Amino acid sequence: MEITLSIIKADVGGFVGHSDVHPALREKAVEHLAKAKKDGLLIDYSRGEVGDDIALIMTHKKGIEDEEIHKFAWDTFTAMTEVAKEYGQYGAGQDLLVDAFSGNLKGMGPGFAEMTFEERPAEPIIIYLADKTEPGAWNMPLYKMFADPFNTIGLVIDPSMHDGFRYEVLDLIGEKSIIFSLPEDMYDMLVFIGSPSRYVIKHIFRKGSDEPVAVTSTQRLFLMAGRYVGKDDPVMAVRCQSGLPAVGEALEPFSFPHTVAGWMRGSHHGPLMPVGVEDDTPTRFDGPPRVVALGFQLKDGRLIGPRDMFGDISYDNARRLALDAADYLRRHGPFEPHRLPQEEMEYTTMPAVMKKLKDRFKAVD
Ligand code: 13P
Ligand code: 13P
Ligand code: MG
Ligand code: MG
Repeated sequence: MEITLSIIKADVGGFVGHSDVHPALREKAVEHLAKAKKDGLLIDYSRGEVGDDIALIMTHKKGIEDEEIHKFAWDTFTAMTEVAKEYGQYGAGQDLLVDAFSGNLKGMGPGFAEMTFEERPAEPIIIYLADKTEPGAWNMPLYKMFADPFNTIGLVIDPSMHDGFRYEVLDLIGEKSIIFSLPEDMYDMLVFIGSPSRYVIKHIFRKGSDEPVAVTSTQRLFLMAGRYVGKDDPVMAVRCQSGLPAVGEALEPFSFPHTVAGWMRGSHHGPLMPVGVEDDTPTRFDGPPRVVALGFQLKDGRLIGPRDMFGDISYDNARRLALDAADYLRRHGPFEPHRLPQEEMEYTTMPAVMKKLKDRFKAVD
């Protein structure tokens, strides 16, 4: 059966500050999702969250970028924003950048990651949700999962993976995309994805077919809004097993809490800490950035799950390393490389400060 998995997320208000989602917002989301399932729009749904971001996880038959599905998500976030206002939540409606929905969610603020595929007899999927970071945070883990034999032994010993995969990479500034075929194009691709603020992996496909096996959300709020409105806090879905990375291979990249951009005021580098859902509330300096992983088995489009994949003790060392890295970086205070480089700061509130001091700069000989 061909189904579409849509993960659509937004921050519509934080409890407290930018640290969590208030239970009343959760209830509103589930009320809308349950109705959409009853009305036949959705086959099934689940709800995920990390920090102050909430994700609608949906299966349906309508394909990607479908107007009805996107409008449903927009209306749900709008209704949640009303609740957020009622409860005085911080930044109510933060990610809803336009006044009214038209067509689909592109350029409107909420992030989405969607793929349509033929469901296999057993279809394990992991959905990753991150807070206090940007879409390029998925570049290193996706590279490791589908291209690095030191992470994914299946690339070496499973004949059905041995040929490698195709990566679609977006240039978010130039608004272009390119397909790299791995392993042949490995070095070429790394030139770009090693700069994750601009070049981000959007899809991964099997070789010799257009069947998507991984997808990310790639919206960048500052590019849409022209000002700082919070970090993008991306989502990602990865299909696993039987010619694809095993579940353990898809989780393994997060045993290294790599450095990502985001954290306090979206303006700092910090480690991406894998956490169980109990620990998905960033507080220290509004962070450190974190990621949860929700595991599902799909059956006829039904989402059997979630399982809390990073709740496992085998991620304790990664968390410890992340906390040590957080201590180390924090001691730089307002200095780079903890604070983002100058050109990135131009997308936050820094230009206003620069403007104020403009006349005090004197030419030097
Ligand atoms: P099982 O033999 O338990 O199915 O595991 C196979 C596998 O792919 C483990 O990574
Ligand atoms: P969010 O992007 O999660 O809303 O956080 C914004 C922020 O400024 C945190 O310090
Ligand atoms: Mg927020
Ligand atoms: Mg957030």
